[in-house]
Amino acid sequence: MHELDLFPGESAPLPLPSGLRRLAGFALPGQEALLAAIAGVLNAAPFRHMSTPGGRPMSVAMTNCGALGWISDRLGYRYAAHDPQSGQSWPPLPAVIRELAVAAAEQAGYAAFDPDVCLINRYAPGARMSLHQDRDERDLQAPIVSISLGLPAVFLFGGLQRRERPVRIPLRHGDVLVWGGPVRLAYHGVAPVQDGQHPRLGRERINLTLRRARESAPKLNGS
Ligand code: SIN
Ligand code: FE2
Repeated sequence: MHELDLFPGESAPLPLPSGLRRLAGFALPGQEALLAAIAGVLNAAPFRHMSTPGGRPMSVAMTNCGALGWISDRLGYRYAAHDPQSGQSWPPLPAVIRELAVAAAEQAGYAAFDPDVCLINRYAPGARMSLHQDRDERDLQAPIVSISLGLPAVFLFGGLQRRERPVRIPLRHGDVLVWGGPVRLAYHGVAPVQDGQHPRLGRERINLTLRRARESAPKLNGS
Protein backbone atom coordinates (compact mmCIF):
# COMPACT_ATOMS: atom_id res chain seq x y z
CA MET A 1 0.00 0.00 0.00
CA HIS A 2 1.20 3.51 -0.76
CA GLU A 3 -0.02 6.62 0.96
CA LEU A 4 -1.68 9.16 -1.23
CA ASP A 5 -1.18 12.86 -0.81
CA LEU A 6 -4.29 14.97 -0.93
CA PHE A 7 -5.79 18.13 -2.24
CA PRO A 8 -5.50 20.87 0.38
CA GLY A 9 -8.37 20.55 2.82
CA GLU A 10 -8.96 16.86 2.27
CA SER A 11 -8.88 14.55 5.25
CA ALA A 12 -7.25 11.19 5.87
CA PRO A 13 -4.78 9.75 3.31
CA LEU A 14 -6.18 6.93 1.22
CA PRO A 15 -4.37 3.63 0.87
CA LEU A 16 -3.85 2.63 -2.77
CA PRO A 17 -4.15 -1.00 -3.90
CA SER A 18 -0.77 -2.65 -4.49
CA GLY A 19 0.08 -2.63 -8.18
CA LEU A 20 -1.25 0.96 -8.49
CA ARG A 21 1.04 3.96 -8.06
CA ARG A 22 0.28 7.65 -8.29
CA LEU A 23 3.24 9.79 -9.27
CA ALA A 24 2.21 13.31 -8.30
CA GLY A 25 3.44 15.97 -10.72
CA PHE A 26 5.58 13.49 -12.66
CA ALA A 27 4.66 15.07 -16.03
CA LEU A 28 5.29 18.68 -14.97
CA PRO A 29 8.97 18.96 -16.00
CA GLY A 30 8.92 19.12 -19.80
CA GLN A 31 5.18 19.78 -19.97
CA GLU A 32 5.53 22.30 -22.81
CA ALA A 33 7.20 19.68 -25.03
CA LEU A 34 4.46 17.24 -24.07
CA LEU A 35 1.70 19.72 -24.95
CA ALA A 36 3.39 20.53 -28.26
CA ALA A 37 3.53 16.81 -29.10
CA ILE A 38 -0.17 16.43 -28.28
CA ALA A 39 -0.99 19.43 -30.50
CA GLY A 40 0.89 17.76 -33.37
CA VAL A 41 -1.13 14.56 -32.98
CA LEU A 42 -4.42 16.52 -32.85
CA ASN A 43 -3.52 18.30 -36.05
CA ALA A 44 -3.36 14.97 -37.89
CA ALA A 45 -6.07 13.14 -35.93
CA PRO A 46 -8.55 15.54 -34.26
CA PHE A 47 -10.69 14.66 -31.25
CA ARG A 48 -14.03 13.05 -32.06
CA HIS A 49 -16.90 11.58 -30.04
CA MET A 50 -17.01 7.86 -30.79
CA SER A 51 -20.19 5.94 -30.09
CA THR A 52 -20.68 2.98 -27.81
CA PRO A 53 -21.56 -0.38 -29.38
CA GLY A 54 -25.13 0.47 -28.28
CA GLY A 55 -25.02 3.59 -30.48
CA ARG A 56 -24.73 6.34 -27.84
CA PRO A 57 -22.09 9.06 -28.25
CA MET A 58 -19.45 9.03 -25.51
CA SER A 59 -19.12 12.18 -23.40
CA VAL A 60 -15.33 11.94 -23.66
CA ALA A 61 -13.81 12.93 -27.03
CA MET A 62 -10.93 10.71 -28.19
CA THR A 63 -8.11 10.25 -30.61
CA ASN A 64 -4.97 8.10 -30.77
CA CYS A 65 -1.34 7.94 -31.75
CA GLY A 66 0.91 4.93 -32.10
CA ALA A 67 0.90 1.71 -34.10
CA LEU A 68 -2.81 1.15 -33.48
CA GLY A 69 -5.70 3.21 -32.14
CA TRP A 70 -8.50 2.23 -29.80
CA ILE A 71 -11.90 2.72 -31.39
CA SER A 72 -15.53 2.11 -30.54
CA ASP A 73 -18.52 1.93 -32.87
CA ARG A 74 -21.52 -0.28 -33.63
CA LEU A 75 -19.15 -3.22 -34.17
CA GLY A 76 -17.70 -2.95 -30.67
CA TYR A 77 -14.46 -1.93 -28.97
CA ARG A 78 -11.16 -2.76 -30.67
CA TYR A 79 -7.79 -1.58 -31.88
CA ALA A 80 -7.49 -0.49 -35.51
CA ALA A 81 -4.43 0.41 -37.58
CA HIS A 82 -6.22 3.28 -39.33
CA ASP A 83 -8.14 6.31 -38.17
CA PRO A 84 -11.68 5.58 -39.42
CA GLN A 85 -12.24 9.32 -39.88
CA SER A 86 -9.33 9.93 -42.26
CA GLY A 87 -8.55 6.43 -43.50
CA GLN A 88 -4.88 7.17 -42.66
CA SER A 89 -2.58 5.44 -40.18
CA TRP A 90 -2.73 7.00 -36.72
CA PRO A 91 0.04 9.56 -36.15
CA PRO A 92 3.20 8.02 -34.68
CA LEU A 93 3.69 8.00 -30.90
CA PRO A 94 5.84 11.08 -30.17
CA ALA A 95 9.13 10.26 -28.42
CA VAL A 96 8.46 12.72 -25.56
CA ILE A 97 5.20 10.99 -24.70
CA ARG A 98 6.72 7.53 -24.97
CA GLU A 99 9.77 8.42 -22.87
CA LEU A 100 7.64 9.98 -20.14
CA ALA A 101 5.51 6.83 -19.92
CA VAL A 102 8.52 4.51 -19.86
CA ALA A 103 10.12 6.58 -17.08
CA ALA A 104 6.87 6.61 -15.06
CA ALA A 105 6.48 2.84 -15.41
CA GLU A 106 10.05 2.33 -14.28
CA GLN A 107 9.56 4.64 -11.30
CA ALA A 108 6.48 2.61 -10.35
CA GLY A 109 8.42 -0.65 -10.50
CA TYR A 110 7.56 -1.82 -14.03
CA ALA A 111 10.87 -2.09 -15.86
CA ALA A 112 11.15 -2.30 -19.67
CA PHE A 113 7.65 -1.02 -20.51
CA ASP A 114 7.42 -0.89 -24.30
CA PRO A 115 4.18 0.97 -25.11
CA ASP A 116 2.95 0.93 -28.70
CA VAL A 117 -0.35 2.82 -28.36
CA CYS A 118 -1.57 6.04 -26.77
CA LEU A 119 -5.25 6.90 -26.39
CA ILE A 120 -5.88 10.62 -25.89
CA ASN A 121 -9.08 11.55 -24.03
CA ARG A 122 -10.59 15.02 -23.73
CA TYR A 123 -13.07 15.74 -20.94
CA ALA A 124 -15.15 18.90 -21.11
CA PRO A 125 -16.86 19.82 -17.81
CA GLY A 126 -19.47 17.13 -17.06
CA ALA A 127 -17.77 14.43 -19.15
CA ARG A 128 -17.15 11.14 -17.37
CA MET A 129 -16.02 7.60 -17.99
CA SER A 130 -17.99 4.77 -16.46
CA LEU A 131 -16.30 1.80 -14.80
CA HIS A 132 -14.65 -0.53 -17.32
CA GLN A 133 -11.69 -2.86 -17.72
CA ASP A 134 -8.92 -2.25 -20.28
CA ARG A 135 -8.81 -5.66 -21.88
CA ASP A 136 -8.56 -5.15 -25.63
CA GLU A 137 -4.77 -5.45 -25.47
CA ARG A 138 -2.87 -8.63 -26.41
CA ASP A 139 -0.21 -7.95 -23.81
CA LEU A 140 -1.68 -7.90 -20.32
CA GLN A 141 1.74 -8.32 -18.69
CA ALA A 142 2.60 -4.71 -19.51
CA PRO A 143 1.28 -1.99 -17.17
CA ILE A 144 -0.99 0.95 -18.04
CA VAL A 145 0.39 4.48 -17.74
CA SER A 146 -2.17 7.27 -17.48
CA ILE A 147 -1.11 10.94 -17.63
CA SER A 148 -3.51 13.68 -16.48
CA LEU A 149 -3.41 17.28 -17.72
CA GLY A 150 -5.64 20.31 -17.27
CA LEU A 151 -8.70 20.33 -15.00
CA PRO A 152 -8.57 18.05 -11.95
CA ALA A 153 -10.61 14.87 -11.79
CA VAL A 154 -11.49 12.04 -9.47
CA PHE A 155 -10.27 8.69 -10.74
CA LEU A 156 -12.28 5.66 -9.61
CA PHE A 157 -10.20 2.55 -9.08
CA GLY A 158 -12.10 -0.62 -8.24
CA GLY A 159 -11.32 -4.30 -8.10
CA LEU A 160 -11.31 -7.20 -10.51
CA GLN A 161 -15.10 -7.50 -10.11
CA ARG A 162 -17.39 -4.68 -11.19
CA ARG A 163 -19.30 -4.82 -7.88
CA GLU A 164 -16.26 -3.87 -5.75
CA ARG A 165 -16.52 -0.31 -4.50
CA PRO A 166 -13.83 1.86 -6.11
CA VAL A 167 -11.38 4.07 -4.21
CA ARG A 168 -11.54 7.74 -5.26
CA ILE A 169 -8.18 9.13 -6.29
CA PRO A 170 -7.83 12.88 -6.90
CA LEU A 171 -5.79 13.67 -10.01
CA ARG A 172 -4.31 17.02 -10.92
CA HIS A 173 -2.46 18.48 -13.87
CA GLY A 174 0.81 16.59 -14.28
CA ASP A 175 -0.09 13.54 -12.18
CA VAL A 176 0.65 10.09 -13.59
CA LEU A 177 -1.01 6.84 -12.53
CA VAL A 178 0.59 3.48 -13.25
CA TRP A 179 -1.14 0.15 -12.69
CA GLY A 180 -0.43 -3.42 -13.69
CA GLY A 181 0.46 -6.85 -12.38
CA PRO A 182 -2.31 -8.06 -10.02
CA VAL A 183 -4.54 -5.05 -10.81
CA ARG A 184 -3.93 -4.82 -14.59
CA LEU A 185 -7.57 -5.77 -15.19
CA ALA A 186 -9.06 -3.70 -12.37
CA TYR A 187 -12.28 -1.81 -13.12
CA HIS A 188 -11.68 1.94 -13.32
CA GLY A 189 -13.35 5.12 -14.48
CA VAL A 190 -13.53 8.88 -14.06
CA ALA A 191 -16.20 10.81 -12.11
CA PRO A 192 -17.87 13.71 -13.96
CA VAL A 193 -15.28 16.47 -14.38
CA GLN A 194 -16.20 19.61 -12.47
CA ASP A 195 -16.31 22.90 -14.31
CA GLY A 196 -13.30 25.13 -13.84
CA GLN A 197 -10.56 27.02 -15.57
CA HIS A 198 -7.08 25.52 -15.75
CA PRO A 199 -4.38 28.19 -16.16
CA ARG A 200 -2.69 26.37 -19.05
CA LEU A 201 -5.44 24.24 -20.62
CA GLY A 202 -8.63 26.17 -19.90
CA ARG A 203 -11.90 24.32 -19.50
CA GLU A 204 -10.74 20.80 -20.23
CA ARG A 205 -9.03 17.76 -18.90
CA ILE A 206 -6.73 15.79 -21.20
CA ASN A 207 -5.68 12.24 -20.40
CA LEU A 208 -3.06 10.18 -22.19
CA THR A 209 -3.25 6.40 -21.69
CA LEU A 210 -0.28 4.36 -22.87
CA ARG A 211 -0.45 0.59 -23.20
CA ARG A 212 1.11 -2.32 -25.01
CA ALA A 213 -1.60 -3.43 -27.42
CA ARG A 214 0.30 -5.84 -29.67
CA GLU A 215 2.13 -8.88 -28.45
CA SER A 216 5.54 -7.95 -27.06
CA ALA A 217 8.63 -9.14 -28.85
CA PRO A 218 9.86 -12.36 -27.22
CA LYS A 219 12.73 -11.81 -24.81
CA LEU A 220 15.98 -13.19 -26.14
CA ASN A 221 18.09 -15.44 -23.95
CA GLY A 222 20.86 -13.57 -22.23
CA SER A 223 19.55 -10.11 -23.15
C1 SIN B 1 -9.54 5.53 -19.37
O1 SIN B 1 -9.67 4.67 -18.51
O2 SIN B 1 -9.44 5.24 -20.55
C2 SIN B 1 -9.49 6.99 -19.00
C3 SIN B 1 -8.68 7.30 -17.82
C4 SIN B 1 -8.62 8.77 -17.54
O3 SIN B 1 -9.17 9.59 -18.28
O4 SIN B 1 -7.99 9.14 -16.54
FE1 FE2 C 1 -9.47 2.58 -19.17
